[in-house]
Amino acid sequence: MHNIAVIPGDGTGPEVVREGLKVLAAAAERFGFQYEATEYDFGGERYLKTGETLPDAAVDELKSFDAIFLGAIGHPDVKPGILEQGILLKARFALDQYINLRPVKLYPGVETPLRDKGPDDIDFVVVRENTEGLYVGSGGFLKKGTPDEVAIQESINTRKGVERCIRYAFEYTQKRNKDNKLTLCGKTNVLNYSQDLWLRTFNETAPDYPGISTNYAHVDAICMWFVKNPEWFDVIVTDNIFGDIITDLGAMIQGGMGIAAGGNINPEGVSMFEPIGGSAPKYTGQNVINPLAAIAAVQMMLDFLGESDAAAAVETGITHATQGLPSMAVGRMGKSTSEIGDMAAALVRGS
Ligand code: IPM
Ligand code: MN
Repeated sequence: MHNIAVIPGDGTGPEVVREGLKVLAAAAERFGFQYEATEYDFGGERYLKTGETLPDAAVDELKSFDAIFLGAIGHPDVKPGILEQGILLKARFALDQYINLRPVKLYPGVETPLRDKGPDDIDFVVVRENTEGLYVGSGGFLKKGTPDEVAIQESINTRKGVERCIRYAFEYTQKRNKDNKLTLCGKTNVLNYSQDLWLRTFNETAPDYPGISTNYAHVDAICMWFVKNPEWFDVIVTDNIFGDIITDLGAMIQGGMGIAAGGNINPEGVSMFEPIGGSAPKYTGQNVINPLAAIAAVQMMLDFLGESDAAAAVETGITHATQGLPSMAVGRMGKSTSEIGDMAAALVRGS
């Protein structure tokens, strides 16, 4: 029995979560596993009504689940930052989901803006550190609002935090067993302290994984290579902010936000799976948003829950669905949100 907490969230979150749950139900039916989904209403509406984002008591409750399935967080009537920090980042931090795992995979039939690149070229995974760096909120103002104002935003990198992320990346590369190649993405030519720790930890950890070849690339160069030679990459490990930035670029080359999913992983605790696009408020309620990213999040969740056959079937469902759509982009998919969900669910069910 898998106990799954579901946070549909804001905007189009509930619409894509509904399709993800449809596919989950189909997978359970076909592969004979049991699950229970418990829904939570954290998000913009609840915040506007109660002032609550993600209360501490809820964090404790979430710890008792086997996984969390999240739709999207972000509401046009709430000042930017409140919900992102109060819900999404709070969950990542409080549940110590120290890995943000973001596969960048171009499925057959999906259009990529990269001319001459296909599914064989675009298939790598970014392991993003998810609890440290610039995201910890360390810093402050001096003389705020005056001409002498000082704003400090510090990047906090601990040996423990960096090492557990790098070890996870090595182990993931080994398990993935594709090219057995791990690239550290950093900025050692400028960030003398944080990136020095990352590079030293990477080099000191590498000998424990003799089967994995390693290399290093600066984050700006990685952006160039994602466009020019994405086939060079197998697994990339990087800090929180660089991982945030390069995975948006990664999402675009795999066909867009409509198809990109990620997992906020605590290997020793409860993990949270999400489509990585936002709440897309202007499309809310129109049944036009692409649910495949949410369905891909379900695939990752099933894999994580040990339901690997079900996960593989969901991936096949996604692959078939993408081949049946002219585009992944809103307005050009030729099918509605629920039709795509139905199509993927039917494929998972094997009909
Ligand atoms: C992401 C998002 C978040 C992040 C925001 C919403 C705080 O961009 O999941 O990549 O920066 O991590
Ligand atoms: Mn982001």
